Amino acid sequence: MSGEFKEAFEKTRIAGIVAAGALEEVSKIAKPGISTNKIDRLCYEYINDNGAYSAPLFYRGFPKSCCTSANHVVCHGIPSDKILIEGDIINVDVTAFKDGWHGDTSKTFEIGDVSVKAKKLVKTTYDAMMKSIRIVKEGLHLGDIGATIQNHVEKEGFSVVQDFCGHGIGEMFHKEPNVLHYGKKGTGEKLKAGMIFTIEPMINLGNFETKTLKDGWTAVTKDKSLSAQFEHTIGVTKDGCEIFTLI
Ligand code: MF3
Ligand code: CO
Ligand code: CO
Repeated sequence: MSGEFKEAFEKTRIAGIVAAGALEEVSKIAKPGISTNKIDRLCYEYINDNGAYSAPLFYRGFPKSCCTSANHVVCHGIPSDKILIEGDIINVDVTAFKDGWHGDTSKTFEIGDVSVKAKKLVKTTYDAMMKSIRIVKEGLHLGDIGATIQNHVEKEGFSVVQDFCGHGIGEMFHKEPNVLHYGKKGTGEKLKAGMIFTIEPMINLGNFETKTLKDGWTAVTKDKSLSAQFEHTIGVTKDGCEIFTLI
């Protein structure tokens, strides 16, 4: 890999580890009775204590340091005084900006005991993301990623959100290409070693349609069904990929 790519990978790895570390801290407090503001404060402090900035804070006017998307919220939920209760599922999405580069990752947490259906949705979403990450390498088509996710999810009877996608990332938070979580094998741009992007499928228990609330951010399922999401930032290599947001 050329020197130029090497720097991008090294810097993204460093930012990615901070973002993943914040989620690890969140996992310790994601219990019934805590507020989403508490999760936000923890993310803010962890990211700052690790020499990074939280990229969401003030991004296009977003008011908080992470997104907290519970139950029928698909993505971009705004932390608040809302208290989590037993049975909730909640995605926490963290993006660290360190030394000029971004690392973006999210997980859906189960709050206490959750329903069998919710558990299946969360597992299917995670498995779909990992299955698609495992096929990434130079020469793969972007459509192969979407098709892998869509096939896995629809086999389980769930639906893939189409209104939001993964994205190129690096010195900019969001850049080309758009990484769709549905599609057809063999279609779309071919991956090249050195490309860095996120895969972040949002999967609904019911219909795939979403709408955005009046706050301008919170995206929810139109049919109020549960939604789950996981996200990693990855870098393409000749024979595979590196996941930057693992610890
Ligand atoms: N982290 C989200 C993503 O995966 C973006 C959040 S933008 C915000 O792309 F402004 F809502 F924070
Ligand atoms: Co992202
Ligand atoms: Co994210």
